[in-house]
Amino acid sequence: PVEVFDLVIFGGTGDLARRKILPGLYRRFLAGQLPEGMRIIGAARTDFDDAGYRSFVNDAICEFVKPSKHDKERIKEFVENIHYLAVDAMGESGWTELAALMRPGVIRAFYFSVAPRLFGPLAERLHEYEIADADSRIVVEKPFGRDLETAKALNGVLAESFDEHQIYRIDHYLGKETVQNLMAVRFGNVLFEPLWNSQYVDHIQITVAESVGVGGRGSYYDKSGAIRDMVQNHLMQLLCLIAMEPPSDFEPDAVRDEKLKVIRALDPVDQADIVRGQYRGDDDVASYLEDAENEDSTTESFIAMKLGISNWRWKGTPIYLRTGKRLRDRTSEIAVVFKDPPHSIFGPQEGRRGNVLVIRLQPNEGMNLRVTIKEPGPGGMRLIEVPLDMSFAEALADGDDIPDAYERLIMDVMRGNQTLFMRGDEVEAAWAWTDPIIEAWEKARTKPVPYDAGSSGPDDSLMLLHRDGRRWREIK
Ligand code: BG6
Repeated sequence: PVEVFDLVIFGGTGDLARRKILPGLYRRFLAGQLPEGMRIIGAARTDFDDAGYRSFVNDAICEFVKPSKHDKERIKEFVENIHYLAVDAMGESGWTELAALMRPGVIRAFYFSVAPRLFGPLAERLHEYEIADADSRIVVEKPFGRDLETAKALNGVLAESFDEHQIYRIDHYLGKETVQNLMAVRFGNVLFEPLWNSQYVDHIQITVAESVGVGGRGSYYDKSGAIRDMVQNHLMQLLCLIAMEPPSDFEPDAVRDEKLKVIRALDPVDQADIVRGQYRGDDDVASYLEDAENEDSTTESFIAMKLGISNWRWKGTPIYLRTGKRLRDRTSEIAVVFKDPPHSIFGPQEGRRGNVLVIRLQPNEGMNLRVTIKEPGPGGMRLIEVPLDMSFAEALADGDDIPDAYERLIMDVMRGNQTLFMRGDEVEAAWAWTDPIIEAWEKARTKPVPYDAGSSGPDDSLMLLHRDGRRWREIK
């Protein structure tokens, strides 16, 4: 178990708390990782008492944790650690009471699961009312700003009350098991790293495809679009882990220094290397414009782009990113496509493709390495490709119990380990790279191209690779 803690969840009655944070804590409790004497304190404006909030937490667990884990007794034991306090983030009510609740010698963590405009006021009040001590941690959700300027301002406000080592900026993609595995595969094996460069890697594809639309979150999403919602954070983090140099150890700053260098080495993106799309509706699903409730919206729900990294390792190896809503399937994967062998001693081999290492994030987390072998049988030396497939669920004893990203990240907060959290300068560098892209669209008033719901995105995004003699892996 981790050390005894008090975790205050601001926005304790919100959607993220209900879906992810509270169920995640319960699963860690079942795993025996939460210490005796810990407290989880929900804080929001709603007028709950402890009993009311406990029943809210009970319902959240029943809804979002697998029924096989619904042991009434265990849930009851868990919710005994739960408390509630009505606190007004923008006002003064509740803060003195919160200060009085704090215990000396216990780790204090404050989770900001609230609208971004409240991040600053919360940090200030925690400081002002002396609720946070020098070892306290704050956990800040995305979006972290909407451009470089706002991200800098937010970093500035947080820095007035907290040191960088106390600030845990969440990007939940970093908590995904396979994403961490990416580092294990790269730096725990001798096989891949010597080939991990532009001499051997033809290109890299990063796909985060979702089948859901933006219905229900339309008003937030319409101001963000895929670039702010996904690319600036999640895809950028995946790119960093794929492309970074080996850090000298697994210490937070060693890893984050290397990630930062990748972002800083990214080339500015040419507008001709970007495709933006917006989904149409059909008989079953609403269009983006309907979901966003904005018939004139020019926000993209899909983006594909080609990137270059100007450093010794990657110069000349393009990285193709794509992400979008209402696509054919929910598939997230990174594919490292290797170059062909320099010479084929077996003569021309129709349709043969090279080695590909696929790291699947979801669903069916796992890895798959495509290798070439001889087609079995007497038909001569014909080559075929077969996958060396590894599904984590099958490989692990209790495979269907791969922890959710939030579980891992919350435990890391308690352990005081920032490796899987973004440092302030990383976030700023990512915005510094994204801002000019968005500014160029705004200046040219470009519009996204429509694509069918349930498709692989606009045809133009296929062209992005076709014109380079490559093709996307299928979304399935
Ligand atoms: C969130 C985005 O950060 O990540 C959502 O705001 C997106 O738009 C989600 O759907 C995807 O997360 P996951 O873990 O389901 O891939």
